[in-house]
Amino acid sequence: MAFELDRLPGVGPATADQLLAAGFNSYEALAVASPGELSHSTDIGEGTAAAIVHAAREAANIGDFETGTAVRRQREQIGKLSVLVDELDELLGGGIETRSITEFYGAFGSGKSQITHHLCVTVQLPETYGGFHGRAVFIDTEDTFRPERIDDIVRGLPDEVLTATMADRGIEGDATDDTALDRLVAHVLDRIHVAKAFNSNHQILLAEQARELAGDYASTEWPVRVICVDSLTAHFRAEYVGRGELAERQQKLNTHLHDLIRLANLHDAAVVVTNQVLSNPDAFFGDPTRPIGGHILGHSSTVRLYLRKSKGDKRIVRLVDAPNLPNGEAVMRITEVGLRPE
Ligand code: GTP
Ligand code: MG
Repeated sequence: MAFELDRLPGVGPATADQLLAAGFNSYEALAVASPGELSHSTDIGEGTAAAIVHAAREAANIGDFETGTAVRRQREQIGKLSVLVDELDELLGGGIETRSITEFYGAFGSGKSQITHHLCVTVQLPETYGGFHGRAVFIDTEDTFRPERIDDIVRGLPDEVLTATMADRGIEGDATDDTALDRLVAHVLDRIHVAKAFNSNHQILLAEQARELAGDYASTEWPVRVICVDSLTAHFRAEYVGRGELAERQQKLNTHLHDLIRLANLHDAAVVVTNQVLSNPDAFFGDPTRPIGGHILGHSSTVRLYLRKSKGDKRIVRLVDAPNLPNGEAVMRITEVGLRPE
């Protein structure tokens, strides 16, 4: 159904503008909002907000129980974003799933930021090569985003993929043509939207802004299909240090994750977050490292992968937790031109 705000109860032109400005640019976006949230971000009273949400739910056909068959049909529509490392794609059951959160956690230098950079490129590839022909949002909390690295990764793509992705964008030339390569790199960088988060509140705000950005591009040729948050936890960890603050930290992190999962569902996008590990010398059993964020994060991120260093440029990726996949490991290398098979 076409999105017509003024068909909703109590929505005149001024309210419609406010709703759009707050990022509510589809029935689905309104349908999954809470009335409190709606009235908080506009001048609408809670009563009207509740009526708007209710009407949007009907228009969007959201909120009813569904049969297992219907759920299966939806599951079949879930996209899988290729990492372009076969062993890792296989471990993930075909790639990183849309409509859920995938968490990569590991120690310093284990490759978390490299993976997020890599996905900002693979998401843009044509579907035949495991991409979504989509754009990327990168929420950068540690000042790690490097355009030069994107440049390396693009130029390092196999010739066949380069030629196909040039054709996909109407860039004349092939992998041997330097001008065409330069144009391709610029084209790819134009489709990565980076924002630096200065603190945890800013990070939460950026996730909300990402919703607006994704809405703006939703019905264009290049919709937003991956949202990377690198790192999800660093600011929260630095700001909430005392034991007494732990509950508040978890609550805020939980809200943030909730925003992200909603974004993923609305736009059929993959959300990929990174998380450091906390060295815990007191742990005598099992792995002496554990991810920051505790249990809440463990439950919200649907798929969790643990990265650890091996010899040289080798990295071992262990699938730790996924609802529908067996646990297992894959090996990859971090090279000059991005991630590669062992
Ligand atoms: P923290 O953010 O510090 O927790 O680490 P991280 O897990 O994000 O590590 P990151 O993804 O930055 O990986 C760092 C590793 O990638 C380095 O140890 C390098 O081995 C490798 N790496 C990063 N940039 C390059 C590059 O330009 N060329 C090559 N060959 N390797 C690189
Ligand atoms: Mg990093």
